[in-house]
Amino acid sequence: MPRSSASRRIRLSESEGSVPDSGGGAAPATEAVPDPRHFWREAFRTVRGETERRVAPLSAEDQVVQSMPDASPAKWHRAHVTWFFEEFLLRRFAPGYKPFDDRFAYLFNSYYVSAGPRHARPQRGMITRPGAAEVTAYRAHIDGAVMALIESTNDLAALAPIVEIGLHHEQQHQELLLTDILHAFSLNATHPAYDPRWRWPNGAKAGTAASVPVAGIHRIGHDGDGFCFDNERPAHEVLLAPVRLSRTLVSNGEWLEFMADGGYATPTLWLSDGFAAVEAQGWSAPGYWRQIDGEWFSMTLGGLRRVDPAAPVCHVSYYEADAFARWAGKHLPSEAEWEVAARAGALADAFGIVWQWTRSAYSPYPGYSVCEGALGEYNGKFMVNQMVLRGSSLATPAGHSRASYRNFFYPTARWQFSGLRLAQFDD
Ligand SMILES: [Fe+2]
Repeated sequence: MPRSSASRRIRLSESEGSVPDSGGGAAPATEAVPDPRHFWREAFRTVRGETERRVAPLSAEDQVVQSMPDASPAKWHRAHVTWFFEEFLLRRFAPGYKPFDDRFAYLFNSYYVSAGPRHARPQRGMITRPGAAEVTAYRAHIDGAVMALIESTNDLAALAPIVEIGLHHEQQHQELLLTDILHAFSLNATHPAYDPRWRWPNGAKAGTAASVPVAGIHRIGHDGDGFCFDNERPAHEVLLAPVRLSRTLVSNGEWLEFMADGGYATPTLWLSDGFAAVEAQGWSAPGYWRQIDGEWFSMTLGGLRRVDPAAPVCHVSYYEADAFARWAGKHLPSEAEWEVAARAGALADAFGIVWQWTRSAYSPYPGYSVCEGALGEYNGKFMVNQMVLRGSSLATPAGHSRASYRNFFYPTARWQFSGLRLAQFDD
């Protein structure tokens, strides 16, 4: 379980520093709030409200669909993050707590084996009942119980770490809620827009800045006092060979050059498993791209939009990122190289546009140990066969980014807001 304590760690501010890092970045907007009960009530209200704000454009029908086994229905996300508070906070700490519906533990437990049996992940779209309105009532029930518990407890210090991880957990699902509905909408030939006013965030212009040298012994991981997940600890030293990281993200224009040069049809550019995925999945362009009358379009949160050559490439898998880097005569940075460069403020668009694939396998840091109990299942049991992404994306909620954050997905995954930047060893 992530280490934490009853301190002010959920940032309520909408502002994001260029290098978010609770160990050394901007102070939380609520740093001066003296009453911890008030702080946690406000943090809880803010994060829970953001989930509902993201769901507001979706109809009840939108909320039920599960477009692939990896994606979950919006309604399920809303209920699952609520179950998390019920299971790990209320059932264990609220005297006399009465569950909203005992059957929900089965429906909305995700992967916590220690917490009991659960509904099969690929069949979450079959849960037509409870309906969206009943999930709203479930959320309200839990909201009231958590608020009352924060107000009445005699031991806030014991509860606050559970509230805290529950809020960070909900923020993770807020991002998944958008990536999952985008995947569902991408399968609808009418190209529904989640938000017709949606636009790509502004970023640095590709290729306008020099690459950044990194070398020597550096400390990575979370060393500070703020919240982090357990997989960011322990902080430790790493030795980096001289390497240069690109300041900017790889753009759609560069990706079009890769495509025009036969990148997807050149086996020598690809890892064996990667080229097998190209052949099996029929990949010839990034996820959600489609060619109409000779022009490339991409499905976005704003519906179908023309591909902007200047915008960062998005919805590429690790295998594609790796092949592109090989085509460019470079490679992907390791997660340590990325973190050192990010902490130095040397990366443009490190946060808030696309997650960036690294060449690092998701594995435990030296000295990592899984904590006891069901929450020990949060991260540690996934530390095999996946690759680390760093930074954050346009869908990451405010206050959820930091330099030591380790996101991870299977190397074939393309439905997240995933892109890349390149690195090159010095001669
Ligand atoms: Fe979850």
